Amino acid sequence: MRTLVFFGATGNLFTRRILPALANLSREEEFTVIALGRRFNDVASYRSFVLPFLPDSSPLLERLVYLQGDILNPKELIPKLSPLLQEGPIYFYLATLPSLYRLALSAIKELVALRNPEELFIALEKPFGKDRRDFLSLKEDLRSVFPEDHIFYVDHYLGKGTVQNLIILKAENLFLERLLSREFVSEVRIAIFEEEGVGERAAFYEETGAIRDIFQNHLLQILTLFAVDIPPLCDEDRRECNRFLMQLAEERTKLLTFLRLPESNLIELGQYAGYRDEVGNTESRRETFFCFPVFLDTERWKGVPFYLASGKKLQAKRSFIEVLFHSAVSPPNRISIEIQPEERIDLMLFVRKPGRNLDSLPVRLNFAASGTFQAKSPEAYEKILYDFLHNDRTLFPSSSFVEESWKATEKLLHLLEANPPKLCRYREGVLTPEALFTAKRIPDEMCLERF
Ligand SMILES: NC(=O)c1ccc[n+]([C@@H]2O[C@H](COP(=O)([O-])OP(=O)(O)OC[C@H]3O[C@@H](n4cnc5c(N)ncnc54)[C@H](OP(=O)(O)O)[C@@H]3O)[C@@H](O)[C@H]2O)c1
Repeated sequence: MRTLVFFGATGNLFTRRILPALANLSREEEFTVIALGRRFNDVASYRSFVLPFLPDSSPLLERLVYLQGDILNPKELIPKLSPLLQEGPIYFYLATLPSLYRLALSAIKELVALRNPEELFIALEKPFGKDRRDFLSLKEDLRSVFPEDHIFYVDHYLGKGTVQNLIILKAENLFLERLLSREFVSEVRIAIFEEEGVGERAAFYEETGAIRDIFQNHLLQILTLFAVDIPPLCDEDRRECNRFLMQLAEERTKLLTFLRLPESNLIELGQYAGYRDEVGNTESRRETFFCFPVFLDTERWKGVPFYLASGKKLQAKRSFIEVLFHSAVSPPNRISIEIQPEERIDLMLFVRKPGRNLDSLPVRLNFAASGTFQAKSPEAYEKILYDFLHNDRTLFPSSSFVEESWKATEKLLHLLEANPPKLCRYREGVLTPEALFTAKRIPDEMCLERF
């Protein structure tokens, strides 16, 4: 029997995202779950705490064992946890504070000292270290217990339906695969817009900022999955396709080595108006917003700017990729691939306007997953957990990818340190993608000041 052990099983991520996904999976998959947390003294209180997050009649509740334990006190934790670990594969999952990862790992090391490493797996949530050096030392700790290909760095964006659709879009639509190159594309925009502020993560955010929190992982993941060459190999028997997908992580890492950063004057940083009060630091220069172009110096993409943007307290929550094509008319033809809130793809074309003349107007041809399919795409975490349990690494970044993405992030942070740009203190809840990408910066009327 497979055992899943969750560190952080009373936390926000576990209860809101992981638990419902586990409940769905438990209808098809055999496993038991050990849920570790500090907050509750007994199983009954834990069960009534998680009940509202579980769908009715889920078999999961039967298989859920709660254990109260403090990672800071391994001498007590290890003897309590050890007898619960049955024979068979064990899947550890770190959904707790990253500052506790090392301690959790040393407890795990002791717990599984006599086990066959082939039966040990681990998944962990970002951030993967504070910088490249910190990541390499975390990786060393992980490798002292787990084989390299049993370590799963989770980026939940890659579990989202539209992001995976990028593979199919390119592999099975030959014309599109050809169009997605510098010959036809003038600009690509990848954006993750958030409506919320830092909320309860103030201390974490003040140390981290938007570049480390979003650029280093989600945006570089989406960028490379979008831009990587996916050959149209997915023929009927899919063998070639599957063989290629196995190498996808490696291909994306390679692509990252071609990443070129812009001149510093093209980098826009911002901080939302109420941020300093929220984090209790009247001097803070921490960025809650960024927008800048990067380039991929490859045969396919040389010279095409990829604008990467993300921020908090913007007008609405929205993530998307937008591809603009060279065009004689305005606005240019484009494909928008929306990741959230809806899974949809829009193609903007010009058609003839009804009437006597040959006037044109832009229209959208669209695909919306919710209108086309009865069944909903599984939530991102269901896909992630399923792949983790089945040792399918297609959608997980390799450790060399994480290292390479830290290299790019550090280069960017050094560039900003050497030439610090002024930050725009932006009004909350007003910036839209349209306004941002028209100006390629936060429009002046939305900045209370630049400091
Ligand atoms: N929330 C999200 O949507 C999200 C998204 C992406 C990534 N992440 C990542 O996921 C991880 C967890 O985030 P979260 O939002 O779930 O945090 P959270 O709500 O603060 O939960 C932290 C968890 O860690 C446990 N914990 C804290 N100190 C402990 C200790 N000394 N011993 C044992 N357990 C301890 C807490 O247990 P008690 O409360 O019982 O003390 C709780 O279960 C972080 O790495 C975060 O960056 C979160």
